[in-house]
Amino acid sequence: MLAGGGGSRLYPATKSVSKQLLAVYDKPMIYYPIWTLVDSGIREILIISTPRDLPAIEALLGDGANLGLTLTYAEQANPRGIAEAFLIGKEFIGDQPVTLILGDNLFIGEEMSAAITESLATFSGGAQIYLKEVPDPERFGVVEIGLGGAITSIVEKPAAPQSNLAITGLYTYSPDVVSVAERLPRSTRNELEITDINVAYLGAGALRHRVISSRVQWIDAGTPDALVAASLAIQTASREQSSEFGYVELAAYRRGYLNQESLLAIVDQTPSESYADRLRSAVANTAR
Ligand code: DAU
Repeated sequence: MLAGGGGSRLYPATKSVSKQLLAVYDKPMIYYPIWTLVDSGIREILIISTPRDLPAIEALLGDGANLGLTLTYAEQANPRGIAEAFLIGKEFIGDQPVTLILGDNLFIGEEMSAAITESLATFSGGAQIYLKEVPDPERFGVVEIGLGGAITSIVEKPAAPQSNLAITGLYTYSPDVVSVAERLPRSTRNELEITDINVAYLGAGALRHRVISSRVQWIDAGTPDALVAASLAIQTASREQSSEFGYVELAAYRRGYLNQESLLAIVDQTPSESYADRLRSAVANTAR
């Protein structure tokens, strides 16, 4: 998970606090992308952030052992691009496929985890990206899809988008992504661009994509408006569907990474009654 950056679009809220620690409704923002990973069956996570913010993130999440997860941490000294995550995470990645998620990307919808789980189960190397139809594609990396349904081009923040399909901040790669990143030239803004990684896989005929269901809401929560929208979406979901979005403890429990006793021990140490109730009711509703 890449959870650094300056958070400049949220200044001054981010003047002394990491963007990824700002609240989205009832939880810190970073809980949601972690939940997405854990709910999809990923339990070893390297969290990359700035030297300033990493200690606070680590203080929040710890080593994950109480949730049956392995959380480790690494610094990104300067925001030199999303693809630098693969250089920082080289040892972590080793010879295994790796999924990268951006710490401000929220996927809100019951179907998302099943979609990711299926993509991971059938992943056979190369790159896997997740696309979402958006009304404002010029804010994102955008793909063009040819007649046969294959991606024909990728452009980062195009002035004249060729489609309304944005590339979301969730990607899976084979371990050779490290060498692709090592060979990547820096862009004109002196960054290692994730779009250039994807273009490299596209050129090698090894880029697969999945369009996220319209029933899943995707929010890049990096602006004040998006942050409010994210909070409202989570509030609505929790009222209407008693949803479990962002409850990392419950994702770990559902996946069997921690047992009922361990979850109830966490409940006992939860000072917020409503948060504790939410965890408790999930246990009560599960025949495990
Ligand atoms: O959200 C999806 C979009 O994310 C994609 O559609 C784009 O293709 C991709 O380039 C990226 O666009 P953004 O404009 O959102 O990128 P941004 O520079 O804001 O970085 C995204 C997140 O990653 C942000 O929370 C900060 C973090 N980050 C970014 C850079 C460049 C880091 O932690 N380190 C970095 O060096």
